[in-house]
Amino acid sequence: MVIIDGKKVANEIIQKIKQQTKELSSYDITPGLAVILVGDDTASRTYVNMKSERCKDVGIYSIVHEMPSSISQQKILDTINMMNQNENIDGILVQLPLPKHIDQNKILEAIKPSKDVDGFHPFNMGRLVANIDGFLPATPYGIMELFKRYDIELKGKNVCIVGASNIVGKPLASLMLNQFATVDICHIYTNDLKSHTLKADIVCVGAGVINLITEDMIKDETVVIDIGINKNKNGKLVGDVDFKNLSKKCSYITPVPGGVGPMTIAMLLKNTIKAAKINKGIK
Ligand code: GUN
Repeated sequence: MVIIDGKKVANEIIQKIKQQTKELSSYDITPGLAVILVGDDTASRTYVNMKSERCKDVGIYSIVHEMPSSISQQKILDTINMMNQNENIDGILVQLPLPKHIDQNKILEAIKPSKDVDGFHPFNMGRLVANIDGFLPATPYGIMELFKRYDIELKGKNVCIVGASNIVGKPLASLMLNQFATVDICHIYTNDLKSHTLKADIVCVGAGVINLITEDMIKDETVVIDIGINKNKNGKLVGDVDFKNLSKKCSYITPVPGGVGPMTIAMLLKNTIKAAKINKGIK
């Protein structure tokens, strides 16, 4: 059994990004990422802080625009419009979730597709489904990179994705389908989850439920990708799979922390460099 070291792979990618920002600085270009954080959700704030710290580490200029949860939708749209026009900003990211009174789709659609480093705009989502180059959402992109680095073949494999969000499950399914895997997407209304996970060669889980996937739910030599981030009752960070028991049975497994999480940030930075190159007309 191999424990997939997402932290190591992410660090390798980050070192490459550092070199690229150095090269861009010779053209007098500093890539810029603007993050909009609405409300005071603790987890969202932690993620945003991690993203902007990493930006600074690699030489990407980053600003965080904080707004109270009572903010109007129009004020967020106005801010995005300003960022769309600001030449110093190459990437725009609106941290999700947004407060209930805000129409998330309207907000995401307001982001200029060439600055949509999260890949959540329907323009980029459509390109992803059609297998045309665009911005890929960071978490699925990071998972695909792990498959590549660990030589995990997808063609002809049975995949079970647990969790059907626009952020992870749906784009991941499209990316894997584009690599000719056969994909089941399961969600809270799926009858008999175990019947799906048991026939899978690769199980990817991002449902936010501790120990959702247990040893009896996978076959021998399965590849297990844990996308969950939960705090258990002792305050420890854990994923969605019973790591201790599954790791005895599977061929590859991602740990939490240190698996998919670090890859998400690395791929966001990679997208920001790509956006800077597109927006500044560099090949
Ligand atoms: N909330 C949870 N994951 C993400 C993400 O990848 N991007 C944004 N913008 N919000 C999120």
